[in-house]
Amino acid sequence: MVSKEKMVLDPPPEFAAQALVRDETLYRSASEDRLAFWAEQAESLDWYCKWDQVFDSNDPPFARWFVNGKLNACFNCLDRHTQTWRKNQAALIWEGEPGDSVVLTYQDLYQQVNKCANGLKKLGVQRGDRVAVCLGMIPELMVVMLACARIGAIHNVIFGGYGADSIADRINDCGARLVVTADGGWRRGGIISLKKICDTALRKCPGVERVLIVKRTGTDLEFMKGRDYWYHNLINEVESICEPEIMDAQDPLFILYTSGANGKPRGVMHTTGGYLAGVAATHRIVFDAKDNDVFWCTADIGWITGHSYVVYGPLLNGSTTLMYEGSPDWPERNRYWGIVEKYTVSVFYTAPTVIRSFMSWGAGWLDGRELGSLRLLGTVGEPISPEAWMWYYNYVGGGRCPVVDTWWQTETGMILITSLPGVTPMKPGSAARPFPGVDAAVVDGNGNAVSVGQGGYLVLRSPWPAMFSSLWGDTEGYKNLYWNKINGCYFTGDGAWQDKDGYFWIMGRVDDVINISGHRLGTMEIESLLVKHPVVAEAAVIGKFDEIKGQVATLFITMRDDYQDTPELLQELKDYVADGIGAIARPEDIYIIDEMPKTRSGKIMRRLLRDIAEGNVLGDTAAQEDEGVVEHIKERYRG
Ligand code: PRX
Repeated sequence: MVSKEKMVLDPPPEFAAQALVRDETLYRSASEDRLAFWAEQAESLDWYCKWDQVFDSNDPPFARWFVNGKLNACFNCLDRHTQTWRKNQAALIWEGEPGDSVVLTYQDLYQQVNKCANGLKKLGVQRGDRVAVCLGMIPELMVVMLACARIGAIHNVIFGGYGADSIADRINDCGARLVVTADGGWRRGGIISLKKICDTALRKCPGVERVLIVKRTGTDLEFMKGRDYWYHNLINEVESICEPEIMDAQDPLFILYTSGANGKPRGVMHTTGGYLAGVAATHRIVFDAKDNDVFWCTADIGWITGHSYVVYGPLLNGSTTLMYEGSPDWPERNRYWGIVEKYTVSVFYTAPTVIRSFMSWGAGWLDGRELGSLRLLGTVGEPISPEAWMWYYNYVGGGRCPVVDTWWQTETGMILITSLPGVTPMKPGSAARPFPGVDAAVVDGNGNAVSVGQGGYLVLRSPWPAMFSSLWGDTEGYKNLYWNKINGCYFTGDGAWQDKDGYFWIMGRVDDVINISGHRLGTMEIESLLVKHPVVAEAAVIGKFDEIKGQVATLFITMRDDYQDTPELLQELKDYVADGIGAIARPEDIYIIDEMPKTRSGKIMRRLLRDIAEGNVLGDTAAQEDEGVVEHIKERYRG
């Protein structure tokens, strides 16, 4: 059998011949002078005032990129393009799930964002304020983000699929006084009542003074006078032009919450200068950005992929970015391919879980769709199996399109490990090599590099421009959770190994973070919610392997006395998690057990629970306090 790292495909020659980057020069120049390389990338932005130092690390792990540089993110995404031929080029192509669509040129988007910025100001939003944005995938989401950036407010986009508890935690943590939401959002032909979910969340958010509502679905809602405002009324009452604020490179552009191994969501903060420089460079180089591209990243903007590669990256480079509101299988399982055909999408970026769904539905759903406009494919979010990679390459890309497997994180802001599509030979299943100017390694617990083929921790040994600047309100967490774990390195939380050609093979998380359909969730976050339920005494959540979703949440709970585990109760617990955290976290299975298997030091033995849930042969149980506990669980659930 040929080992999988031996499978190598060269970039298709027609692609390589026209690629922006065709040789290894960038790798070489970046390794000779990393800071000069990043400074050159940052030159692609418009600065009111240039930096006087590319990088300053006087106070590690805090770092400052482009010190004293001044710029505005919205100006860079819009204004400068309206001063060129791009003015009439489509900035955004949007398609709603019911089939409605909107195309906004750079000039149109500029006008809408200016109005929205003035609207936000009218509602009292000032530079430095946090604005929570809980919207589905509609154009106003992009407009509000850019409007915040224009006036120096910090957007905190909250995924529209989250439940009320998750939304409330994220609003309260960042101290937002304004929330932007919509009456509803379309999903699989039904309506998600966003405003209603937000209203439930807002009962726990005393600091919120105003709610701005976009009308999308015409759903009935409770309108709270004095607190609630309609978006369409507000923007009709304001001036057309709003001057962009001059921001410092270090000023936060946004906060985006993500999950970690601890129970509390982490408010990842990104800066204006470094983030934009990193995202512009990676979008241009990894996705080979060309003027006539239609770039479609299918990620929801509520996640970092959407921030960096639906909004900021493409707009900074003057590309046409496509946004689709709904589900890939609505009304049929060929919806995505219909969109590719209709808008002649040229670069398509999605997640392995989506590819696995398409595989399971069968290649027949691609029949009759003209996909010849595609020239480059990408994946992100989890390791992709070589089988799924080959399916994507052959059926979607027709063997003509390189596939870039891009590894990165909410915290990294930009792609860090990837192939360069016109240069790097592809090994299906490997994210390939660090992007030029990025210093990644696989090390042991002491920070020493491990040998070729040996597994270890994936770390970054030097800072990179789009690195997060801190965690909102938790500088200690920033230091301890990421920088103090492995000597002198940024700890990613992922395990990996490198092959003899230096390619990185990502093995997945080494902490209690699970990945459901490419969405990162902390098991502790779900557990903390569960123990607030009156029947739950103790809860352990594990990620169980799932063919399509990668992982699904499985619960093990012990109950308080006097409760019976009826089917109704199990259903209630599933709904409780879905309402609190979001539908993606809805547990697939619940195991009611008498006692949690624990180590002698009291830690829940999750590996053992995973083995039980997946029906594996049980591993070593020697560390466990009471052997009888496992026997009980096995007896009850595995016969
Ligand atoms: O485990 C890695 C996985 O997703 C995690 C980051 O999740 P999040 O912050 O939500 O960002 C996802 C999108 C950037 C990582 O720690 N991951 C991301 N990309 C890949 C990946 N695992 C393997 N291969 C990838 N290409």
